[in-house]
Amino acid sequence: MTERTAGTVGFGHGLTNYGDRDFSLYLRRSFAQSMGYSRAMLGKPVVGIAYTGSGFNNCHRHFPELLEAVKRGVLSAGALPVEFPTISLGEVFLSPTSLKYRNLMSIDTEEMIRAQPMDAVVLMGGCDKTVPAQLMGAISAERPAIMLVAGPMMTGRHRGERLGACTDCRRFWARYRAGEVDLDEISEVEGRLAVTAGTCAVMGTASTMACLAEALGMILPGTAAIPAVHADRLRAAEATGAAAARLIGSARTPNTIVNARSVENALRVLLALGGSTNAVIHLTAIAARAGVKVSLDQLNELSDATPVLVNLKPVGNGYMEDFFAAGGMGALLRELKPLLHLDCMTVTGETLGERLSSAADSYVDRTIIAAREQPLEPQGGLVALFGNLAPKGAILKRSAADAKLFEHQGKAVVFSSLADLAARIDDPALEVAPQDILVLQNAGPNAPEAMPEAGYLPIPKKLAQSGVKDMIRVSDARMSGTAFGTIVLHVTPDAASGGPLGLVRTGDRIRLSVKARRIELLVEEAELKARAAAAKPNLAKPARGYAKLYAQEILGADEGCDFAFLRPQ
Ligand code: FES
Repeated sequence: MTERTAGTVGFGHGLTNYGDRDFSLYLRRSFAQSMGYSRAMLGKPVVGIAYTGSGFNNCHRHFPELLEAVKRGVLSAGALPVEFPTISLGEVFLSPTSLKYRNLMSIDTEEMIRAQPMDAVVLMGGCDKTVPAQLMGAISAERPAIMLVAGPMMTGRHRGERLGACTDCRRFWARYRAGEVDLDEISEVEGRLAVTAGTCAVMGTASTMACLAEALGMILPGTAAIPAVHADRLRAAEATGAAAARLIGSARTPNTIVNARSVENALRVLLALGGSTNAVIHLTAIAARAGVKVSLDQLNELSDATPVLVNLKPVGNGYMEDFFAAGGMGALLRELKPLLHLDCMTVTGETLGERLSSAADSYVDRTIIAAREQPLEPQGGLVALFGNLAPKGAILKRSAADAKLFEHQGKAVVFSSLADLAARIDDPALEVAPQDILVLQNAGPNAPEAMPEAGYLPIPKKLAQSGVKDMIRVSDARMSGTAFGTIVLHVTPDAASGGPLGLVRTGDRIRLSVKARRIELLVEEAELKARAAAAKPNLAKPARGYAKLYAQEILGADEGCDFAFLRPQ
């Protein structure tokens, strides 16, 4: 090890300060040697691998094998791979909700990249919140980084039908609630929905975020949609390790790759995918770490001029394995090429335009990825709504909604909390009709439940059993990327922070106009003021720990639900 490399790369990078630099280096080397590394290996630059395998994360259960492939790639490119654990967020194993811990994971990722001696880092993520958390952390850490996503699950089979988590989970559960499927069958289905390692098999939040990571230029081209169990996924892992080693010393850090133009590309892709509503929150948070503002007005402008091209559940028919076989992100990006900023730099050192020009003849399955001239929908899958009920905006996934309900006025049936919803939604005495609008309050980022995916309110049982499949539902909650229905989400400001959603009472009239991008509470201003004055603020705040930090620092959905102090100052 030369004196220069000893202090600036690999294990010599970022020494612990004891006031004697040579002692620090000597001490670190001696401890590193206890792991069996030779002097030659200790002299190499280091690629850290942010490793998120966990017994509480089924989506990452193949990470041990992927890790070996990443290490192979790093070694083959002349660097030393060193994995380190960070928090892992398995979507369905977290209470009250995974979103509450996304920022905690981003802090962990950022600080461990910064504090430990690595020259570049591979971010291994996949399940819903892990990809945004890692990108947020890596942008703030400002060190060369590349992401490797888990890849989607393969589908299962049930009585001749393909099933994939978790659009089909919800579809079968709705049929069970309606009495169309019995207990024996729903138990069979339970074992056939999530049958391999990997992320949910449809264009849910995890798949959407993987595609956005590719659109941003933060993963290797063509790797977003490779199924988790496909041998190509291992080859992608090996190539990612090698690419990370090549990033060492480069100025292509995530905070430069993620910029206003690449974020706009990602928004276009989100709209063309008919992707998850959660991705609006995550992309807003990721962009803000790089100093880029995503506004819902911008989303609407882009939505008006971006067609839906991808035919996957929950919007269409296919699964992620079909998207991969149909041409994947390369095919989609080529379709969108005239709408994209092609000069955006990617993590490989190629611009997006260079990447797309070198793959121009590839096969495309048009049943899954439509041509821009013959889109599935002429406009984007998401639309932002504004009005006195949502002064800072709300989101509707129109591509997964019933267009018959887009221009509608109805009576509000209000649930004041998740507990109230659970207690009354199936009460036979609940006064509710199919044309009513279900409203859920106190399920936003400032509520104790921390904005769960509860916006997909169940259709009241008595209506479901009479054949009602969709109703307008309005809340400050989120919705799973795998869900569908005419569902207005992320109403901001949320009820728990004093937003007008908290002032709605059962019997009020609400008007939705997707055409006008409006959601209005048809109650006189004076009456709303009187209700606001009579409202009792909830002063119970967590006394300690992460919950206290969360309550103090959480921003609204319009700011990506990041913590204020984590943004660039
Ligand atoms: Fe991990 Fe759906 S539960 S991606």
